[in-house]
Amino acid sequence: MSANQKIPASSYFVHRNSVLHAESVPLDQIAERVATPTYVYSRAAIAESYRSIDEALSPVPHMVAYAIKANGNLALLSCLARLGSGADIVSGGELARALKAGFSPDKIVFSGVGKTDPEIAAALRAGIRSIHVESAPEIDAIEAIARELGVVAKLALRVNPDVDAATHPYIATGLHKTKFGLELDVARGLLPRILRSPHLRLEGVACHIGSMVLSPEPIGDAVAITAAFACECTAAGAPIKTLDAGGGWPILYGNEERDAQGRSVFGRAIIDGIQRGGAGKLGLTVVVEPGRSIVGDSGILLTRVVYVKEQAGKRFVIVDAAMTELIRPALYRSYHAAVPVVAVADAPLSPADLVGPVCESGDFFAQDRLLPPFSRGDLIAIRGTGAYGAAMGSNYNSRPFAAEVLVDGGGFSVIRVRQPLEELWRNERGYEG
Ligand code: LLP
Repeated sequence: MSANQKIPASSYFVHRNSVLHAESVPLDQIAERVATPTYVYSRAAIAESYRSIDEALSPVPHMVAYAIKANGNLALLSCLARLGSGADIVSGGELARALKAGFSPDKIVFSGVGKTDPEIAAALRAGIRSIHVESAPEIDAIEAIARELGVVAKLALRVNPDVDAATHPYIATGLHKTKFGLELDVARGLLPRILRSPHLRLEGVACHIGSMVLSPEPIGDAVAITAAFACECTAAGAPIKTLDAGGGWPILYGNEERDAQGRSVFGRAIIDGIQRGGAGKLGLTVVVEPGRSIVGDSGILLTRVVYVKEQAGKRFVIVDAAMTELIRPALYRSYHAAVPVVAVADAPLSPADLVGPVCESGDFFAQDRLLPPFSRGDLIAIRGTGAYGAAMGSNYNSRPFAAEVLVDGGGFSVIRVRQPLEELWRNERGYEG
């Protein structure tokens, strides 16, 4: 069924004199200078999102630790580090990025179910704020490495609260059937072992139940369970000072059946969850790990129509971006509004598939969507792509990574040049040529 496309509101990507602008920069100018496909981010949008999340937690001591996986471009990271943000990392690569971008180690937290020995060693050497433990064998690994390095590893236990985040199953992480976190009983059972070790210090508890969690209730429920566990840890003698409530705060892509609640409602749900869990008196610092809600609607993917073709009565608009730049529609059937950069008033809408050039039928951005006429050369902005867009890019079909641009007021800078072709095979060996 074709449907009218819904375009989420934005103060940073707005048509002026019929041309879509990022802040005060017309997007056709960026396409002219940098070519396409190109990711375009708004610095002001990122700063406002960061501040609104910070503000939502202002009633309590807190730290916002940006989830680098959403978009790890160094220019965006250093912008967030300067705003005061911390960082949530999940790999040695993200640790290196975080340090390079200037995040202070005592604001870096490390999540993930499969941290390797070299990654743990790098984190301990850097002296990060906390490693979020997700299994019993991980504790053995951390302890052995901390002993070898002669340091004390600061830990948080990430509990799996078995709460349904009511989101896409691929990005739900709070149920026992997923690989994430520790069942409460298991976490409880680990306490004596951690408390005994001179190389481990349990300073926090953590949870993260999923991404794009539209309603604050499950997050509040997960926090209440985690807060009650913080009380148990404290009673057992652990110097718990932090409760990490994870990320997952939503943005609106435009196709949601209902509006997402404001940031303050999510903040309130976490603060209330701590009270409900009985940890109000512990004076805990609340950490959150937002990724999508900081950069998601701060970026668009700028692409140009290569061809339009009709096939079996169907209109295909073929653009120069593909699943290699934005894999979310192929992976989650996710919705992204496709906005003409030059708007034509009263343009007639008709169904179309918006597709890329890659040799996969899953290479689409929109299917059977009511779109205006497009011709070869037209520019389209694919909205809501600042998070998990460039970060999940690939070189499939030997397509170089897209350029990335950061707009600041009336100017812009290229924060990642389009990948030169030679880089595609730079690390390959054993050929003659
Ligand atoms: N903390 C942890 C431990 C996480 O696993 C994640 C995301 C976050 C924080 C940040 O979540 P956010 O605030 O961005 O929802 N590729 C998927 C999203 C995967 C999220 C993975 N973990 C997508 O494109 O929707």
